Amino acid sequence: MQEKEKGRRDFMGMALGACAAVGGVGALYAAKRSWDPLPSVKAAGFTTIDLSGAQPNVLTVEKWRGKPIFVLKKTADMKPDDRDVVIGSDRFHISIGLCTHLGCIPAYEGEKHKFMCACHGGEFDASGHQIFGPPPSPLEIPPFKIDGTKLVLGEAGPEYKKMLDAGLTV
Ligand code: FES
Repeated sequence: MQEKEKGRRDFMGMALGACAAVGGVGALYAAKRSWDPLPSVKAAGFTTIDLSGAQPNVLTVEKWRGKPIFVLKKTADMKPDDRDVVIGSDRFHISIGLCTHLGCIPAYEGEKHKFMCACHGGEFDASGHQIFGPPPSPLEIPPFKIDGTKLVLGEAGPEYKKMLDAGLTV
């Protein structure tokens, strides 16, 4: 009788252990799913811009992760810069369009080839270098990857990594 009782207790213990293990795995899976970003959030992390139709010296402003992104195709007479994004024979200035002083959005003045910040008079050249006023650093270059004539913002390709290593992105 005692043997039979012990066997039953062992079986109950094992069954309980198995249930706890399955429950634990389920709880871990549910926790992981809640930590993972939603698919919509993942997709929102990348923005693809086709640069094939860009006009020289015309600023377009795209949006990436809620920030304005400056896209400026340089003209032949604009000074080449190590911060340029080179696609084929074209050179582009790509940056986060927020002044590095206090975050205003500078305006581009095409005749002067300059970005002018109306908030406190800061100025940046067409490569995004601060050239006048209070901005402490150049316009920031967002992570990018070149894909043919397209630019994928949010993904760090080899060209971006090279700039980052050289300290050119800020
Ligand atoms: S925010 Fe641009 S100069 Fe102050």
